[in-house]
Parts: sequence; C-alpha cells; structure tokens
Amino acid sequence: MTAKISIIGAGMTGSTTAHWLAEREIADLVLVDIIEGMPQGKALDLLESLPIIGKDVSVVGSNDFEATKGSDIVVITAGIPRKPGMSREDLLTTNAKIVGDATTSALKYSPDAIFIVLTNPLDTMAYLAMKIGKLPRERILGQAGVLDSARMRAFVALETGVSVENIDCYVLGGHGDEMVPLTGRSNIAGVSLREYLPADKLEAIVNRTRKGGGEIVSLLKTGSAYYAPSVAVAQMAEAILKDKHLILPASAYLQGEYGLKEMFFGVPVQLGRGGLEKIVEYKLDADEKAALEKSAAAVKESIGVMQSLVKI
Ligand code: NAI
Ligand code: 2OP
Repeated sequence: MTAKISIIGAGMTGSTTAHWLAEREIADLVLVDIIEGMPQGKALDLLESLPIIGKDVSVVGSNDFEATKGSDIVVITAGIPRKPGMSREDLLTTNAKIVGDATTSALKYSPDAIFIVLTNPLDTMAYLAMKIGKLPRERILGQAGVLDSARMRAFVALETGVSVENIDCYVLGGHGDEMVPLTGRSNIAGVSLREYLPADKLEAIVNRTRKGGGEIVSLLKTGSAYYAPSVAVAQMAEAILKDKHLILPASAYLQGEYGLKEMFFGVPVQLGRGGLEKIVEYKLDADEKAALEKSAAAVKESIGVMQSLVKI
C-alpha cells in the first residue's frame, strides 16, 4: 500500500474505523492509544482477519506516535465518550486536552496529513485541533454529517420499507441536539420527504435523528455508538485518498459560507486528495435558516467555553 492512515484512539470508534478501512483495502493502518498493549492487540487481531477477507494491508498498533510517521490521513478518536445523562458538551474539558496533545504529536510525524476529527464535542474539537495544529482549513474536517444523515436514512427506511439505497437525507449544522435535518431536500428516489411522508411521521423521524446519539448511549449505558460513526469516517477517508470529489455532509471551518465564520459547522463539502475542495451552499428557506442559526449559536457557545479553558 502506498497510502497510510493513522487512527489516534484505539477504543470502540478507533478500532472499528480500522476494521472498515481494512475492508476497503485503501491504506496501511496504524492504531495508537495510551493503553499499553491494547492497540497492539487489536491491530494484531485485525491483521489476522485479513487472510480470511483477502485484503493486503499492514495493520500496526503502538503507544508511540512515531509509528504514525508519514501518514496521509490522521483520524482523531482519542477521548472519553458519553455515559447516560451526559451531553456531548460534558466531555469538553477532558477531551480538549487529549485532542490538543494528539494533534500536536501526530503533526510532528506527519506534517502534511489531512485530519479527520471524531472526538466530541465534535465541532469544537475540530476547531481546537485546527488552531493548535495551525492547519489550513482544507486539511481538517470533523465527522458528523455522514453519521447523522445515515441515521435519518435508516429511520426513513424503517418507516417506509423502501431500500436505504433510494433514500438520500441531508443533515446539516452542529453535531448536537440542534442539528438540522433538511426535510424538503431529503428524498426517496427524488420525491421530497415532505411529499412522501405525513407531517407527524416526518417530525418523529427528525426528532429521533436529532437524538440518535443519545438513544444509543442510553441503550449501551457504558459508551456511545461506534459502527455507524466509524464507517462514516471510512467513507470520508476513501473519498480523500481516491480523490473522488465526493460531496458529503461534514464539519468544516466556515469563512462566510451560510453567513457564518470562524467556526466548524456541518455543511456539504466536496472531498478530494487535498481534503476539503469546496463547500456547497444550499438555498435555504426561512425556517431552515432559523434552525441553522440556532444550531450555530450552540456551537459558538461551546467554542467559547473551550476558549476559556484552553489557550489557543
Ligand atoms: P473509547 O473510550 O472506546 O475510546 C477512546 C480511546 O481514546 C480510549 O481507548 C482511550 O484510551 C484513548 N485515549 C485517551 N487519551 C488518549 C491519548 N492522549 N492518545 C491516544 N489515545 C487516547 O471511546 P469511543 O467510543 O471510541 O469514542 C471516542 C470519541 O469519539 C468520544 O469523544 C465520542 O464522544 C466521540 N464520538 C463521536 C462521534 C461523532 O459522530 N463525531 C460518534 C461516536 C463517538
Ligand atoms: C453519536 O452521535 C456519540 O456523537 C456520537 O453517536
């Protein structure tokens, strides 16, 4: 393999990201964690699965960032997840230190890497990593929109019985309970969800999507979702490495798009070998604009709290 992806944090999301990426056979993989033996053990286990699935990639685990040297992409999943009753914002103080240190250490060995942040609170952690790493916005993205949109697609499929392949959903905004599922633009084989579904059913899907992360936390009780978040990261990484110019919803640093600036926020982005190629701007109606402003206010507040804790 010529490409290399390093995943910082080999917990639930980090290790499943490695799993989905190995299936795609697009890069050699490195897992880094602070727990001794854990990334090595998970990497070896994954490596031993490759003959069965017929994929030729290298998988290495380490407690030392030196193993990440020369990475094309660095995925940051290091940090603590939510427990029942916690909001993503409750993770801020602990995760800010972890994400800041991980970014600095990873950049030391891979100064040209593209970063994909997963750690929560997502938009704030992506902002922190960008500022600490002094990264151009092209080279840093947060994963949230692919996951939130996939959740909405899954709920629409459950409600309608239509194949998930026919369902396109667009969830923008911050990765919190104020996220904005765009119901008019989301569609089943070209038919807007607003036409396809009665208003009460659609509203229930919107609410379930917004609370989708919390629904899983309250079921698992000891952590948060990992299958869907990690395959979302894998899709973003593949789009970048294969230079696909794929448009996906993701958290990007805004410089005036959607009337917002100096913050990370979920918007449609075009991804290619250089990372962020373009932000696509939708024409929004008044209700959608108001909902995005509300979501943006929540993200700005979180960034403000982070700035009061961390000098960047
Ligand atoms: P986890 O607890 O299973 O794994 C986190 C790992 O990070 C642990 O193994 C821990 O030892 C490691 N770690 C802590 N400090 C580290 C450091 N300085 N360097 C390297 N590794 C370090 O948690 P999980 O479920 O993987 O979630 C990770 C983060 O991702 C959480 O903040 C969670 O809220 C977030 N998340 C975000 C999603 C999104 O859509 N943006 C979706 C799912 C989770
Ligand atoms: C989720 O939405 C925890 O942010 C994570 O599942």
